[in-house]
Amino acid sequence: MEQYFIKGGSPLVGNVEISGAKNSALGILAAAIMCDETVTIRNLPDVNDIRVFLNAIKSIGAMVVYPDPENRHVVKINGRNIRNHKVDNEYIRKIRASYYLIGAMLGKYKEAGVALPGGCNIGVRPIDQHQKGFKALGAEVHIDKGMIYTKAEHLTGGYIYLDVVSVGATINIMLAASMAEGTTVIENVAKEPHVVDVAQFLNQMGADIKGAGTDRIKINGVKKFKAADHEIIPDQIEAGTFLCMAAATRGDVTITHVIPKHLESILAKLKEMGAEIHENGDEVRIAVTKRLKPTTIKTMPHPGFPTDMQSQFAVCLALADGSSTVAEKIFENRFKYTDELTKMGASMKVEGTTAFISGVDHLTGAIVTASDLRAGAALVIAGLSAEGVTCVEEIQYIQRGYENFAEKIRGLGGYIQKIDVEDLFERERIMRRMEFSGSLVQPPMERRRIPAE
Ligand code: UD1
Repeated sequence: MEQYFIKGGSPLVGNVEISGAKNSALGILAAAIMCDETVTIRNLPDVNDIRVFLNAIKSIGAMVVYPDPENRHVVKINGRNIRNHKVDNEYIRKIRASYYLIGAMLGKYKEAGVALPGGCNIGVRPIDQHQKGFKALGAEVHIDKGMIYTKAEHLTGGYIYLDVVSVGATINIMLAASMAEGTTVIENVAKEPHVVDVAQFLNQMGADIKGAGTDRIKINGVKKFKAADHEIIPDQIEAGTFLCMAAATRGDVTITHVIPKHLESILAKLKEMGAEIHENGDEVRIAVTKRLKPTTIKTMPHPGFPTDMQSQFAVCLALADGSSTVAEKIFENRFKYTDELTKMGASMKVEGTTAFISGVDHLTGAIVTASDLRAGAALVIAGLSAEGVTCVEEIQYIQRGYENFAEKIRGLGGYIQKIDVEDLFERERIMRRMEFSGSLVQPPMERRRIPAE
């Protein structure tokens, strides 16, 4: 099993380029199969969830080609030869966004069967709002032996008021409705940047979608899509993760190729915590020289504070000078990582859906286990800021959504190695050797800390 071994304690310093947004890419890849002409998708993140999704669409007959086999960030897709409208394999069950194939195939073929989604282990994740949307468009929906099936004689526009603000339901209904007959209105929709990105891609292919990014989306269905060329937006959560990494290690990091507007709630919190933030075009620089200040965080749908960032911030707050609270308002079971952080010396108590955190002046290395994608990233941040060596297990969760994570961290002078080790004694040996050795990675001269402007 691969694990990350991290020797903490050095500030991260330097530049890191942020990849394309995974959650946007998943919606866009699903939309792409609705087109019988070839679409080009750029800035695709090269992460496991995307590879699984590409294999799934290939398995039903979609053409998936990397024009440059050396460059996994540009892919061409054509859905003309899709004959099979049922997607089921052990891999697709592992990713949550497999459900976007239901909306895409229902829209295009008026029928779909998809293995029910898996994804991160962060609580019950119903899809009742997706089903409600498909039914409002005139489709029948039923679930049988771990598969969701939907079919419509006539897919027609409808009115849908979402009972909860759901990213997945918003995108899924938008996909189906974009090829329904007539007009669909969806109210109380999610406004995340990736919802807007998927809508823009659909519009480029000839869909008629208005209002993405507001509370109400109006869609006039069209019969078919045409070729398009789209660049996926930068990953807001990867960007936030590197900002937290810089903050927790009291470093000086510039994230490049980002859209600062998408990071507003994250940057506002970091500023409140005492970080110096400088925005310059598509770059954001963070410098932290003093101990962070405590704060309160409450996760909310966009433009509120993203649930996908709460664990990374909790690590920063674990090291802050005072008491903080983190209230999780989206998922009911997103604090599993707090037990792991406690092993590293953090002082955290969870009551219901709120974590109470008393800042400590340092964390210490330990063997910890990732329970989901973002929790895993948080443990890596904790390891980088801790004294001593940390081993993070179950890193397959992290690899689902972070491209070249260890390489990017090493580029900032962080000491992290991915090692495949089964034997517990061998693991102990590696940890002891790292404890007493110098940094494996020598930060180059130009990465030395420079004062913030
Ligand atoms: C997406 C993101 C995930 C992020 C989440 C919230 C992808 C692939 N994943 O997940 O990283 O954490 O948004 O920003 O984009 N709900 C229902 N019924 C439904 C659908 C959702 O009750 O039919 C509830 C969920 O349980 C949750 C809330 O609505 O409490 C928000 O979930 P949703 O926005 O749908 O999350 P996902 O789209 O699954």
